[in-house]
Order: sequence, then C-alpha cells, then structure tokens
Amino acid sequence: MAVLVTGGAGYIGSHTVAELNEHGFEVIVLDHLLNGHRQALFGTTLYEGDIADHKLIAEIIKKHAIDTVVHFAAMSLVGESVQKPLDYYEANVCKTRALLQTLAELGVQRFVFSSTAAVYGEPVQVPISEQHQTSPTNPYGDTKLSIEHMLRWCYNAYGMHSISLRYFNAAGAHLTLPIGEDHRPETHLIPLVVQAALGQREHVTVFGEDYETRDGTCVRDYVHVMDLASAHRLAVERLRHQQGVDVFNLGNGKGFSVKEVIDVVSRVTGRTVPTIYGARRAGDPAVLVASSAKAKEQLNWVLRHSDLETIVSSAVNWHSRHPGGFNE
Ligand code: UFG
Repeated sequence: MAVLVTGGAGYIGSHTVAELNEHGFEVIVLDHLLNGHRQALFGTTLYEGDIADHKLIAEIIKKHAIDTVVHFAAMSLVGESVQKPLDYYEANVCKTRALLQTLAELGVQRFVFSSTAAVYGEPVQVPISEQHQTSPTNPYGDTKLSIEHMLRWCYNAYGMHSISLRYFNAAGAHLTLPIGEDHRPETHLIPLVVQAALGQREHVTVFGEDYETRDGTCVRDYVHVMDLASAHRLAVERLRHQQGVDVFNLGNGKGFSVKEVIDVVSRVTGRTVPTIYGARRAGDPAVLVASSAKAKEQLNWVLRHSDLETIVSSAVNWHSRHPGGFNE
C-alpha cells in the first residue's frame, strides 16, 4: 500500500515526503510544478499533473495501490486570495471536490488534509483550540474550511476517514536535506527577514507597530516545517486504525512578535537586519497562537525543532546555500 502526496514538491509537501520516505512508506507525488520544485524530491516517483484529472488520478491509484492521500496541492496566499477569490474557490474547493470524487469512486478511504489556522479568523480567545469558532476573514481560509466541511460529508456518505491539520506559521528548512522555503513571490516573514540579513534583499518592512502586543508588532506561532512533516506522518499512521473525521491544530503554543523574529535573525547571523516600519497589512490579527494539546495527546506529536533559534538557523543555512532558491 502506498501514500499519494498531492503538492508533494511544495514547501511543506516536500518535507512531508522526506519524513514518510524516512519511515519506510512508499510515496508517490503528484504536483503540477507551477509552485513546487522538482529539485525538492529525491528519488520519489513524481507525476506532473492536476488533482482534478480524473483519468490520471485513477491510473496512479490503481498502479501504485494507493490507500491514503495526503493533500497539500492548493493556492495558499492570503493576500492573493482576497484579490482573486474565484481562482481560490476553483483551485482549492472545486479541484479538491474533483479529487475526492475520484477517491470515493475508487474506494480510497484515508485522507490527510493540509488545513490552516486561517479557518479561525480573528481570534476571540488565545491560545486557539480546535473548539474555537471558525470564521475566516479571507477567501483562502474559507476555501480550506469548505474542504473540511466536504470531508465530514464524505465520511458520512462514502466512509472516507480523514484528518485535517490546521497549521499556524510554518517556517525553517530541513536540517539535513537540501530543501527549504522557495515561494515566488515570497511573502512570509522569516524568509524575508533572513534574506534581508544576508543581503539578498534590500530590507524587510514591519507591517504595523501599533498593535496591542508587548512591543506593538504582531505575534505569531512559528512551527518548524520538519515538526509539521512528522505530524502528517503520525496522521497517516493514525488513519490505519482510527476511523472517522478529526481536526488538529499544529503550532508550538508560543508566540513571537515580528520584532523578536528580527532580533533572533540578527543574533543568529551576526548582522543587522535592514528594517523599515510600515503600515499594518489588511486582515492581520494582532495575535495568533495555537493550543496544540490535542495533537500532543492524541497524535503523540512531539515538537523537536520548533524553538525559534533552530527555525531561524535552519532557514539561514538554507538561504545562504541557495540564494536563488532551488535554481542555485
Ligand atoms: N510581516 C511583516 N512584514 C512582512 C511579512 C510579514 O511584518 O514583510 C508580519 C505579518 O504582518 C504577520 C507576521 O509577519 O504579522 C507573519 O506573516 P506571514 O505572512 O509570514 O504569515 P501569516 O501569519 O500572515 O500567515 C500564515 C500563513 C498563512 C496562514 C496563516 C494562518 O502564511 O498561509 O499563517 O494563521 F493562513
């Protein structure tokens, strides 16, 4: 039996593929390579194609005896989703619907879904547990929540067991393999700060310093991408014996402000980070911090690399060796 990873050539996808390979799973990747990178995969079978391609998915499932799908493939930029909501509903909701239809027809009954903290929207209580209300403030979060809803009904109708993993701020790079973050364009804080420290970009702009937080800048919950990868592997294992539909938060439970991130990058690199202070970015909540107690208790998830120093130093290592991302 094998695991199909959609979007497996992407950032979190490729780290999860490495984790699954390391634990002896047979892994097949499907990625259209519009955002993913072929170089992020090492000896894993890659199909270049679309999750809505019924014929291709059916062929992969039969040929490789796929019994579990880990689904990353999606558009995932919050800001872009506000500009192009219909593209997001098409790429995320419509195409995942098509994928689920194929899986249901072929009797694939285990599904691990890459969801997001963006399903919660503006928090009414921090740390955020899985019971927190879901009220997304952007189309990206709404598409992910819609898919979570679809999964509930798929269990009801087709007996498809699923686990949705709602991650907070994925960051860092693999500690041994040459894979890391390479988004184009890059919008995430840690790679931007690291690149600014390394002289790979002119400066970083801090979006707002008038929030009600300890230093006025936004607080986020950064979790190492290898810890996220291990949670996906644990979810795949859990679905071998656990039935039904479940949801887990994945974060480290500690919040760091934008200024604190810049300080740690400065300390780790020994360089000053060229910083500009700008206006707030629309839609940014002041504080997003997870409670991951459920994942720790029920998935036996252990955070090994999510202290901010390790996150930052792994990112520094990746960006210094790959100044142009996977192309160099
Ligand atoms: N930030 C800056 N300057 C930048 C970029 C970011 O100050 O140039 C700040 C943001 O305002 C925010 C923090 O750094 O306060 C983190 O921003 P990111 O863009 O790195 O991450 P977000 O918290 O906005 O979003 C992340 C994921 C989303 C997911 C969301 C869920 O990237 O996919 O968490 O909470 F939806």
